[in-house]
Amino acid sequence: MSFDPLRRHTKLERHSILMLVCIIVAVLIGGLVEIVPLFRMETVIEPVKGVRPYTPLELAGQNIYLREGCYLCHSQQIRPLRDEVERYGHYSLAAESMYDHPFQWGSKRTGPDLARVGGKYSDEWHRAHLVNPRDVVPESIMPTYGFLMNRGVKVDRIAKDLKTLRVVGVPYTDDMIVSAKGDIVTQANPDSDQVDAMVARYGGKVNVRDFDGQPEMVSEMDALIAYLQVLGTMVPFVDGKYSIVPSAPIDPKVEPKL
Ligand code: HEC
Repeated sequence: MSFDPLRRHTKLERHSILMLVCIIVAVLIGGLVEIVPLFRMETVIEPVKGVRPYTPLELAGQNIYLREGCYLCHSQQIRPLRDEVERYGHYSLAAESMYDHPFQWGSKRTGPDLARVGGKYSDEWHRAHLVNPRDVVPESIMPTYGFLMNRGVKVDRIAKDLKTLRVVGVPYTDDMIVSAKGDIVTQANPDSDQVDAMVARYGGKVNVRDFDGQPEMVSEMDALIAYLQVLGTMVPFVDGKYSIVPSAPIDPKVEPKL
């Protein structure tokens, strides 16, 4: 008798367990083909010039942002819709959040989007606003965060934070990790003789200031403002255009050229 695929298929259709097994195998193969390539970041993110990992002080600020739950009221993602772009600036690029772990895109906007808040206000404005939002925006319902002024930033664990992020693909170099504890203090002390070395480590575009106006200590307020002031400012947009880097160093085993 000649080979008849239709008859074989009829057999398969009548055998429910065999059919189930075949469906599972087919769905698994389809799933793997779709999902596995996404595990390699460089296949999904177009690397953009200017994007660098956060400095230790900015990273400490992001940790405070997470701890205080700022993401519950603020998103960090400007959608490519006209009203958003007119209000907040260029829509967010995937590359701009590629070193955020966890990402802060958010889904709730009780307050405005913060993806490009960096450079929008002075440090003094942020300090006054975080201490008591009503002092600068009378109708604000944002909570107060004045206690951040009195809490020293935790410098001892920052190197571990950098190391952990390296495991998930953020290209922190050994040099950055070894210097993290010093760099966190340097960024808030413009008079330090370590400033040039620290700025060079992170590619030459770092805000170095006494963010909270208290030169005697590096407070959690310093860290949070340093973080807010860098948001959305890394990519140098020229007439709304940005440059793509041919091959960005996303693999931590590759020495990054920042
Ligand atoms: C209960 C919700 C809520 C929480 C939590 C919250 N905010 Fe806000 N935030 C607002 C609202 C509402 C506004 C708009 C009014 C104003 O400017 O105060 C705002 C405004 C802001 C602005 C000014 C944005 C702009 O473009 O004008 C910044 C910056 C900001 N918040 C930072 C933070 C940070 C940092 C935290 C966490 C420490 C935080 N917010 C927590 C509700 C919140």
